[in-house]
Amino acid sequence: MTFQAPKGTFDWMPPRSETVLAVRDALAAPARRAGYGYVETPAFEDTGLFSRGVGESTDIVTKEMYTFTSRGGQSLTLRPEGTASVVRAVIEHGLYGGPLPIKLWYSGSFFRYERAQAGRYRHFSQVGAEALGAEDPALDAELIVLAMDGYASLGLRRVRLLLNSLGCKECRPAYRAALQDFLRALDLDEATRQRIEINPLRVLDDKRPEVRAQLADAPLVTDHLCGACKAYHEEVRGLLTAAGVPYEDDPRLVRGLDYYTRTTFEFVHDGLGAQSAVGGGGRYDGLSEMIGGPQLPGVGWALGVDRTVLALEAEGLLAERAGRVDVFAVPLGEEARRRIFPLVAALRRAGLAVDMSFGGRGVKGAMKAADRSGARYAVILGDRDIEAGAVQVKDLTTADQTAVPFAEVVDVLKGRLS
Ligand code: HAM
Repeated sequence: MTFQAPKGTFDWMPPRSETVLAVRDALAAPARRAGYGYVETPAFEDTGLFSRGVGESTDIVTKEMYTFTSRGGQSLTLRPEGTASVVRAVIEHGLYGGPLPIKLWYSGSFFRYERAQAGRYRHFSQVGAEALGAEDPALDAELIVLAMDGYASLGLRRVRLLLNSLGCKECRPAYRAALQDFLRALDLDEATRQRIEINPLRVLDDKRPEVRAQLADAPLVTDHLCGACKAYHEEVRGLLTAAGVPYEDDPRLVRGLDYYTRTTFEFVHDGLGAQSAVGGGGRYDGLSEMIGGPQLPGVGWALGVDRTVLALEAEGLLAERAGRVDVFAVPLGEEARRRIFPLVAALRRAGLAVDMSFGGRGVKGAMKAADRSGARYAVILGDRDIEAGAVQVKDLTTADQTAVPFAEVVDVLKGRLS
């Protein structure tokens, strides 16, 4: 019997896996430079954290959670997203009593039992950032700018920012009621009718053409914002413009999680087909209270690492070849292997990227491996060299070869490669 990765999951293998690492670093770097500290929370949490935090009426909670009972009888769930966990950790550690805002970033695996398709997986990876404890439009704008800077640093040119405001607990109820009135008058199936009563905003996100056609005149949240939400949103928009970040107003932008208030946004890439969101986020001023914490406004985003890799590939941007080394060592015989092994270790300790030929291959096979490694230099050691106390240093691009005394190899190669 052989095994395969479970449905909806896959392995990132070299050389593509190199891009995964580059994406993770690049997406986190702007937040780190802006004072966000690293937080690492467990991959599973109490199930109630997500049902209350993400929301009982969301697809994530009703259909997509990996929930299991532990041997101790506790209901646990593999995290489908990171925000609820981060807010839980901030509350648990009492950080809200210290300096505000609390700025945190994270990176890791997330799990959703989704219908698997290109760009939508059951196990995926996100880089996220959250800022808690300040209701300041500059914080919303800061996060958006940091994400856009992350995408730009990877060379991506086709990421667009969609921006919306979902209002607050003052103005949302009236909008919700107006939307429900409108939706109830439409010709919709039973499941969608039920959704109108539980989570009418989600109906706006329905992708079916026959539903979309009926939604053209639906009331828009941006027409129902209270004065404070309108002013807040204007401020965010102004700050984005001032920072040179273009955005598109999308009053129909609905997110798949219930905790959002005011600012919401998504980063989409046009080269990805249906699963075009490479990242998303927004403000969640009520989340802390929803999970039993103090009043603690927050805003944040999560960027999809896997989809960002796909976006890079769609734009023809590939990372450097994986596992590239500077030097490749070729011992010809067992005595040569014994002597070259510590030399390889010394070269690596000197900061060079070095590999050697393994498995007692002949000269031809070993030199082929040296070429494949991408190394600039081969260090070759045969019996005659051992007697002479030297190694042959071969420049693999010009085929020039010189004998270098053993004691000088590290310095010579360091010099040539610097
Ligand atoms: P989300 O929109 O559910 O938001 O996910 C953020 C990003 O994660 C998506 O835009 C997408 O790139 C990636 N992603 C989500 N699901 C999948 C999947 N099944 N396969 C591949 N990639 C996926 C959140 O998770 C919120 N916690 C974001 C946030 C942080 N809001 C406030 N703070």
